[in-house]
Amino acid sequence: MKHKMEKRLLTTIAALLFVQLSWSQVVNKKYDNILAPTPPMGYMTWNFFADKITEADVKSLTDAMVSNGLRDLGFNYIFIDDGWQGGRDNRNNIIPDPVKFPTGMKALCDYVHSKGMKIGIYSDAAPLTCAGYTASLGFEEQDAKSFADWGFDYLKYDYCGAPADWQTAIQRYSKMADALKKSGRSIVFGICEWGGREPWLWAGKAGGQLWRVSADVRDKWKSQTAPQDRNNLGGGILDILDANAGLYAYAGPGKWNDPDMLVVGLYGKKGPSGDLGGIGCSDTEYQSQMSLWCLMASPLMISCDVRNMNEATKRILTNSDIIAIDQDQLGKQAERKIKTDTYQVFVKPLANGDFALGILNTSDKEQNIQVNLASLDITGKTKAKDLWSKQTTQGKNDFSCKVQSHETRVFRLF
Ligand code: GLA
Repeated sequence: MKHKMEKRLLTTIAALLFVQLSWSQVVNKKYDNILAPTPPMGYMTWNFFADKITEADVKSLTDAMVSNGLRDLGFNYIFIDDGWQGGRDNRNNIIPDPVKFPTGMKALCDYVHSKGMKIGIYSDAAPLTCAGYTASLGFEEQDAKSFADWGFDYLKYDYCGAPADWQTAIQRYSKMADALKKSGRSIVFGICEWGGREPWLWAGKAGGQLWRVSADVRDKWKSQTAPQDRNNLGGGILDILDANAGLYAYAGPGKWNDPDMLVVGLYGKKGPSGDLGGIGCSDTEYQSQMSLWCLMASPLMISCDVRNMNEATKRILTNSDIIAIDQDQLGKQAERKIKTDTYQVFVKPLANGDFALGILNTSDKEQNIQVNLASLDITGKTKAKDLWSKQTTQGKNDFSCKVQSHETRVFRLF
């Protein structure tokens, strides 16, 4: 009798495992042919190095990401932003600055790949980049071929020096996307025209896997300027959050809204992120950025000096439960369900039927915030895991929690 029951139990477990395995094969198959099935994660050089980036820096950053465990948590791109270019040779091939990159891009790509990481590069859809270096307009196929031959896996394509209209933007981005497709290498294409031409409406069709939704993020909680200035100049964490929150319907596997880099750990460093009042944030605010960006299924690009992180920065960037929310296979961006003057509530459905719930306190005081789960269309979830404290509690329909000023608490409801 006992033997029979055990056998039945084993058969049931085997059947369940089979269903689960086949389902994950179906999911993986579905995404086999698309680039960036989950939001790209890694490191971007701009905020910390600006255009002073060198080959030696890229190597030491790569080494650090391997040794401090960031690569294994999924941060597997190392991305070289503006400032690498050294003009064109006598055949018009784009070349790296020979002083900053003495052994050349092929050797550097090989180095990064040998460490189990991928590598990205930057150009612009005009004659010159934002920082005034050689860019790719008119040389799309030739440059795409160089990027592919060197071994790059990701191109961020900027829009400084280009005309304001939509049509030209769509044309120029499509041209580079086609060139990348012809290059013989799978290269993720990041569109960076800062949201002014509503790229969420066309960037996927133009060949992009991600598109910036705003001007540059600055290392601050919130702008003091009027919203129209922020569009041109960039903003703090809350400003970029506002630019991105309404765009949840446009995100999905292979097509991501990009609210720009994580400023976590920069602490008001001078340079691009410190411009325009980027005075730095508190660790609570940095933790909020990480939480909100993960809820919004955003590309996660670290930009502080990962070779010298303090404990708080490490803790914020290496929370695998929070990263799992960002990287969830379903690829939904959280919907902002509630926005009052003092708090905001986000809900992100997850592939296994769980929900991620984010509660942000935008006020200057600690608050006890109560949300009714049924009114957020969440039912049948009996447990809540706090993804920062790691504590699991009984889920109640009237869910309430204490939230510090500028903190975002994130729960997995299951
Ligand atoms: C623009 C982009 C930034 C960065 C710089 C480089 O401002 O939005 O992310 O790439 O150019 O010059």
